[in-house]
Amino acid sequence: MTLLSNQKEKESAKEEVELVNWKEFLYPYEQAVAELTLKLRYIMEEYKRLGLYCPMDTVLGRVKQPSSILEKARKKQIPEEKIEEEIEDIAGVRVICQFVEDIPKVISLIRRRNHQDLIILEERDYIKNTKPSGYRSYHIIIRYPVQTVAGSKDLLAEIQIRTLAMNFWAVAEHSLKYKYHGQLPQELQDRLVHCAEAAFNLDNEMSTIRNEIMYAQRYNKIKDGLLADILDLIQGLYSVASLEEMEEANKRLVGLWETGSLDELKELKADLAQMAQVYGV
Ligand code: GTP
Ligand code: MG
Repeated sequence: MTLLSNQKEKESAKEEVELVNWKEFLYPYEQAVAELTLKLRYIMEEYKRLGLYCPMDTVLGRVKQPSSILEKARKKQIPEEKIEEEIEDIAGVRVICQFVEDIPKVISLIRRRNHQDLIILEERDYIKNTKPSGYRSYHIIIRYPVQTVAGSKDLLAEIQIRTLAMNFWAVAEHSLKYKYHGQLPQELQDRLVHCAEAAFNLDNEMSTIRNEIMYAQRYNKIKDGLLADILDLIQGLYSVASLEEMEEANKRLVGLWETGSLDELKELKADLAQMAQVYGV
């Protein structure tokens, strides 16, 4: 009885030690993912602030689970001490774009940083070279230094760049592969290849209306901005302008709210700004 509980205690202690080691091992990878996603999200933010179309729709990041790391090491016959240098996607960042045309822009954004805050080791174009599974994405493998308590540490990280359609497919296929332990029935594989073709066609179709969509998104953003400015101006004028003037301004705004052109909204904004100047608000 005592022996058994001792044994159990020892085992759980050992497990705990291993757990702590994994945690420590992954800590710099978490830092790398957090830094890389933050940097890319700030670029997105800057595009938005400048009122420019952003080639990135979403930036995601994750650290690979220890179980997946061990599984990959086992499959690829990588000894534990080589995991750091041979498994490139322990730190993974994913940039999702609306259009295929956005992908080269994101690639240049990352290439521009080469030898600045990261080093590009390899690029894999699974968009030109679609995998037999149907997988499409652009991968950039980088070396990325993180500053830890123990000093600078170089890590490998994988940046995946793909469209929303490519991502939709890859996420779905990944869940299926997981469920079937990597061994998908042939029929399902065939259907997935078919789905990948459909996603490819969707990307191409979306490209044909890319300009219209980009224009609409920019238009909506400018319109939202003008409406917000107009509302601010009206708010500021309420206590100082005459009732007639405010009624008139409200009437003009209501008339333009749904179908007003940007020029008409700009005109209203300019008139209100002038009024605000006269009233000194
Ligand atoms: P693994 O595919 O993970 O063994 O990595 P690898 O060293 O062979 O590199 P590769 O460039 O082939 O894949 C790296 C990553 O891309 C994977 O971890 C997946 O996230 C993704 N990936 C590659 N192929 C596929 C695929 O067929 N389906 C899905 N859903 N993802 C894939
Ligand atoms: Mg692979």
